[in-house]
Amino acid sequence: MTLLGSGTRRAPGALRSLAGRDFLKEIDLSVEEWRALVDLAADLKAERRRSDRTPRLAGRSIALLFEKASTRTRCAFEVAAYDEGAHVTYLDPASSHLGHKESVADTARVLSRLYDGIEYRGSDQAIVETLAAYADVPVWNGLTDAWHPTQSLCDVLTMLEHSAKPAEQIAIAYVGDARNNVARSLLVAGAMMGMDVRLVSPAELTPDHDAVRRAQQIAEATGARLEVTGDPHRGLTGADFVYTDVWVSMGEPTEMWDRRVALLAPYAVDDALLELTGNPEVRFMHCLPALHGTDTELGHQLASRTGRTSFEVTPEVFESERSIVFDQAENRLHTIKAVLVATLAG
Ligand code: CP
Ligand code: NVA
Repeated sequence: MTLLGSGTRRAPGALRSLAGRDFLKEIDLSVEEWRALVDLAADLKAERRRSDRTPRLAGRSIALLFEKASTRTRCAFEVAAYDEGAHVTYLDPASSHLGHKESVADTARVLSRLYDGIEYRGSDQAIVETLAAYADVPVWNGLTDAWHPTQSLCDVLTMLEHSAKPAEQIAIAYVGDARNNVARSLLVAGAMMGMDVRLVSPAELTPDHDAVRRAQQIAEATGARLEVTGDPHRGLTGADFVYTDVWVSMGEPTEMWDRRVALLAPYAVDDALLELTGNPEVRFMHCLPALHGTDTELGHQLASRTGRTSFEVTPEVFESERSIVFDQAENRLHTIKAVLVATLAG
């Protein structure tokens, strides 16, 4: 199965070239390799429903290092591994020496002797890069402050599934904290797919120059259109997908919420913001977890502090038929499986 439009079909050898490689950030892959992974994920998703599957990773073992909380990424790595016959070990800072008594380089060398691959989630991109430099096995980035590449791979698959258009005709508007990992990854991933990508945020929260420059270099080759703007009308007009993320990311101080609420309130995704697209078929995306009400500890605390009862998205939009957030969450599994299969199998 190929989801990509004509002229963008899987290049021969693109998947094979990923065998044994790390998956640390989108820009480490060629456009052909990235697109081949999207295609592989679609194939694996279709295949999962069949009962005659042969596990590709039988006998393999994977270490999952999490220095930050996770629901989707951890579970997707675990289920992807189980589906393909591999075993996993979950390690967090409380139950391992990682970051306290043992260096990243030593941890990488020890885990390489025991495991066939290592996933890492934490703050500093330099840590996952160091793990990869010292490990003899593939290292996968499960989120750092800089990049969230397994998320953007999932986002691309989800958009292709929910659009009748080829990637090159799809427009996505990301609204909110455009400096964060999800926004930077989406910008680069969209550029690799040749999409029209708009990041819509106040000036204080625009992505760093380096991320934009790298995405623009890719766009020159793929024909992608990229725009960073503070104007929701300009950014949203004609968008097929509107995407947002939490206003304060993991690792940022809680005190940041007051400033972010003040800055980002005009960028909250509600029905009026979606109307700016002028597109009755517009779909809403969110990497999750989302603060769309007060039924979480954090939402409850913030409501009494700020007087708001929803944050980056209203409950009306989140629960509407326009929302494809749970399809998106499911695709974490299929896309992470593609990363495991491409880098470990063979
Ligand atoms: N989207 C995402 O990465 O979710 P988790 O933090 O639950 O892994
Ligand atoms: N930007 C968010 C993404 C969570 C999946 C964070 O880093 O907390």
